[in-house]
Amino acid sequence: MVDNTTRTALVTGANSGLGLETSALLAEDGFTRVIITARTPAKADGARQSLLARTNADVFETLTLDNDDLSTVEAAATELAKRGGKIDVLVLNAGMVPGNDLLKTVDDVEATVASTLIGHHLLTMRLIELGLIGDAARIVISGSEAARGDVPTFHPLDVDIFAAEHFDGNVEAAIEAQIRMEPPAEHNAANTYATAKQFVAWWAAELARDLPAGVTVNAVSPGSTPDTDAARNAPFFMKHVMVPMFKLIPGMSHSLPDGAGRYIEAAGYGDDVTGKFFASKPKKMTGPIEEVHLDLLDNPAAQQALWNVTTKVAGGVGYPARN
Ligand SMILES: NC(=O)c1ccc[n+]([C@@H]2O[C@H](COP(=O)([O-])OP(=O)(O)OC[C@H]3O[C@@H](n4cnc5c(N)ncnc54)[C@H](OP(=O)(O)O)[C@@H]3O)[C@@H](O)[C@H]2O)c1
Repeated sequence: MVDNTTRTALVTGANSGLGLETSALLAEDGFTRVIITARTPAKADGARQSLLARTNADVFETLTLDNDDLSTVEAAATELAKRGGKIDVLVLNAGMVPGNDLLKTVDDVEATVASTLIGHHLLTMRLIELGLIGDAARIVISGSEAARGDVPTFHPLDVDIFAAEHFDGNVEAAIEAQIRMEPPAEHNAANTYATAKQFVAWWAAELARDLPAGVTVNAVSPGSTPDTDAARNAPFFMKHVMVPMFKLIPGMSHSLPDGAGRYIEAAGYGDDVTGKFFASKPKKMTGPIEEVHLDLLDNPAAQQALWNVTTKVAGGVGYPARN
């Protein structure tokens, strides 16, 4: 039963790592309805059981959604409309770290960007269209320090240079090649991940321009949080050298509550804070978060191009006012 006193959150990728932790923290923070999404009903049910056991709060509602298949995102939005109620905090947390092999989804999208951005874009657009976003809602999407370009081995794409070299300066064409990972775009696990998170930061900046007053969106890096399952598909060096090394060096990693706490912190910011990307201080992977300012990221033309391509790749579903 959803009523006016309900405080509702929706967390994607809630069956593991940061999503599971965030869901627990939200329930502990007094949210009365926490919608947890996972890729299969069995994973969602398993998460619900473990969250119930941990929090003793009977507030978790499951939903199936797989960003690798946009038809499941459409179905999830339709299902939410049937259930009713508005979402106050939307945590777009799902995401994967790719391996060496290029993976593409049934929608012909590279799987990393599909998991962290394209499905989340479609979900957000549908929730807005269906009137399911609360008047003072907070949207938080999972970013990463990797997007800054100062994390060893992670190099986000310079789309302006890529567009100039291969597409006569057409930035949208360059971004689409990267999102679909079609030549001359080249898959490299770390760089594909860093670029996907750069796109996430751009998406938040662009969406913020259109949201109604009172509703905010920010990209937030949870920081280096090795006690998740994120490295499961990662290449050997990342999985067996970098991540274990980060765990050993003081300041290079933090706990699950610290990582998930960053999403919750940003969801508590006022309505004057929107369209930003928050991460650790430059060259840091943990500690307090601050707004990131970098030429590569503060690029309004690229942000708009990314938005247009994301809309196209999501089947032409963009911001209602712009369609
Ligand atoms: N851990 C870190 O150090 C760190 C640092 C910066 C950013 N992040 C970001 O934090 C987020 C959470 O990652 P994590 O570290 O908690 O990893 P995790 O334990 O592997 O959790 C990732 C979650 O996302 C889900 N997911 C993956 N691909 C999906 C897709 N295509 N559609 C729907 N759900 C999908 C996973 O579902 P399955 O279990 O079904 O695969 C899982 O629930 C990611 O966006 C990640 O990039 C993590």
